[in-house]
Amino acid sequence: MSQASAPKPLSARRAGPLKGHVRVPGDKSISHRALIFGLLTRGATEIEGLLEGEDVLATGRACSLLGAKVERTGTGKWTVHGAGVGSLLQPKGVLDFGNAGTGSRLMMGVVAGHGVSATFDGDASLRKRPMKRVLDPLLQMGAEVASEAEGGRLPLTLTGTADPIPVTYETPVASAQVKSAILLAALNSPGTTTVIEKEATRDHTEKMLAHFGADIKVQPHGAHGRQIVLTGRPELQPNKVVVPADPSSAAFPLVAGLIVPGSEVVIEGVMDNPLRTGLVTTLLEMGARIEAKNRRTEGGENVADLVVHASNLRSVDVPAERAPSMIDEYPVLAVAASFAEGTTRMRGLHELRVKESDRLAAVHAGLVANGVNAVIEGDDLLVTGGPVRGGGTVATHLDHRIAMSFLVMGLASESPVTVDDGAMIATSFPDFVPLMAGLGADIS
Ligand code: S3P
Repeated sequence: MSQASAPKPLSARRAGPLKGHVRVPGDKSISHRALIFGLLTRGATEIEGLLEGEDVLATGRACSLLGAKVERTGTGKWTVHGAGVGSLLQPKGVLDFGNAGTGSRLMMGVVAGHGVSATFDGDASLRKRPMKRVLDPLLQMGAEVASEAEGGRLPLTLTGTADPIPVTYETPVASAQVKSAILLAALNSPGTTTVIEKEATRDHTEKMLAHFGADIKVQPHGAHGRQIVLTGRPELQPNKVVVPADPSSAAFPLVAGLIVPGSEVVIEGVMDNPLRTGLVTTLLEMGARIEAKNRRTEGGENVADLVVHASNLRSVDVPAERAPSMIDEYPVLAVAASFAEGTTRMRGLHELRVKESDRLAAVHAGLVANGVNAVIEGDDLLVTGGPVRGGGTVATHLDHRIAMSFLVMGLASESPVTVDDGAMIATSFPDFVPLMAGLGADIS
């Protein structure tokens, strides 16, 4: 298991308005995938704007163990010399993914579709997360698993097959990680694999498959879903990947700019993929003053500069169908709702219970610790806004987004907010504290 670093408490307190231009790091989902596609492509894949956070670096190390040469050539610039589909090496060590659910689950798909055997492990948070949802389809495709922990949890050893069976699989939970694991296993399958999802989830794997030359077809399915059909055994062609700024990281300066009076913040080049924009949609419904300027395309994704002005927010009812497009943004939305007039209801948050922490419980506890009126009703979270007292200490449970969300709260609450451990912020947003300080925030 990864060694936990010493806890690093951090506090955020009110200061002047936030002002300035920032660019947040590269998208975490695309960064993991860029390295993995580099591994699966024979030749050199160049990546620009890679998120150099601990989660992504763990995926890079796993790619090396499976036979890729992974080189850093400059800030955010990496080249992966890949082994190619069907040509992975038997890893000589444990694949330790630290805190990274995405890296571990996607790589389970890769290993399942190759004739290699690998042991997967991670930190105390990752060891608690459910893996059965990914293993079920991979076992149908011919992989075998030996798990030491109950419920298929890490650490586990997965033995793949050199001839994965093509399947048609309807994902029982809305999960881009499950979908992606199946598609990655299917890349080495001698046939056509179909994945059906009732609710469309982020489509970065599908886009990257097309970008590297695979034969993939995506069609609508039902009211909100998609059907994805992939033909196995393509010869993937090396292609440059430019990683746009992560909307899930942009969420923190965005909400901070809305709740700190007098603020005006510009966040540059934020990915504007409709499967990731649920937070902005919701904040606009709450009366947020956010303008999207300079809409353009970067690395095959739409991006825009977000101009954010401090706003008087009002409560909103967030429908459950919106959850996949903002699944990682509920903690910081709950913070925004704490400052909004009225009671915000966020519906259908069951998936939050299986993230880096039980985020529903962690958010609720953090709100209550800071004097916010919050209630969990079934899978819904209700937050009644108003002036926020603050003054509480929040348990982050090894969860980077809980830490950053409550530090954002402390920038606008009456008394400072403390998080018990800010060390995990390095998994997704290593420069969060200096970037926020550059806007005038007081976090230390
Ligand atoms: C991700 C998918 C989501 C999200 C995670 C990143 C991805 O997880 O929460 O942070 O890159 O595919 P689920 O697939 O579990 O919903």
